[in-house]
Amino acid sequence: MKSKEARLFLKSLKEDGIEEIYSDPAGRKSPSVPAPEQNRIRSPEKEWFLLKEKAETCTLCRELAAKRKKVVFGAGNAGAKLMFVGEAPGYEEDVQGLPFVGAAGQLLTKIIESIGLRREEVFIANVLKCRPPANRQPKPDEILNCEPYLLKQIELIQPQILCALGTFAAQTLLKTGESISSLRGRFHDLRGIKVMCTYHPAYLLRNPGDKRKVWEDMKKIKKELEAFAA
Ligand code: URA
Repeated sequence: MKSKEARLFLKSLKEDGIEEIYSDPAGRKSPSVPAPEQNRIRSPEKEWFLLKEKAETCTLCRELAAKRKKVVFGAGNAGAKLMFVGEAPGYEEDVQGLPFVGAAGQLLTKIIESIGLRREEVFIANVLKCRPPANRQPKPDEILNCEPYLLKQIELIQPQILCALGTFAAQTLLKTGESISSLRGRFHDLRGIKVMCTYHPAYLLRNPGDKRKVWEDMKKIKKELEAFAA
């Protein structure tokens, strides 16, 4: 089948409510065995739904799964050009099931608005989707368990720019042990996506003198987004 015909065929299947088909590597018309996972054609919307469902029922980190009230998958525009990644949900986030809704979240909203965007226009996620008890730091095995969810979110959103908020997000995304002070202020690369690292809003609440540096980082993001749009 030629590619245009294939597209029309797929469109007609979709109109009939068929979301998944299987391609048979041997070219047989009616495969008698289920095709392997990688041959399954799924819409990004369905992948997103399945990913969210998987995260929301995840029990890989036993302590976090037992103590959480809600899984905080992330919120915002799943087609965003700019995606923020924080550390982990805190008390308020755990209660509401939404990222950055406490005091640090209010500051993040101001930071987003400082470059002329609304919160709903970006996507906000965390390295960990569950709250570490008493807001302790994420443990290395928890980061490893949760990382595939974040990477899949990034793959599906395909943002132009990622903004890592604080040490854990920056070090997890960039696979480095470097400090946030040395990582911030310039773009890094993650599979072709530009990554800006900056201070976490909770750190800024304790160290307001560093707000100016975050403002400088955000101006670089704004300039880069404008260059993409030009
Ligand atoms: N801090 C984070 O890193 N993430 C949240 O969602 C809230 C506070």
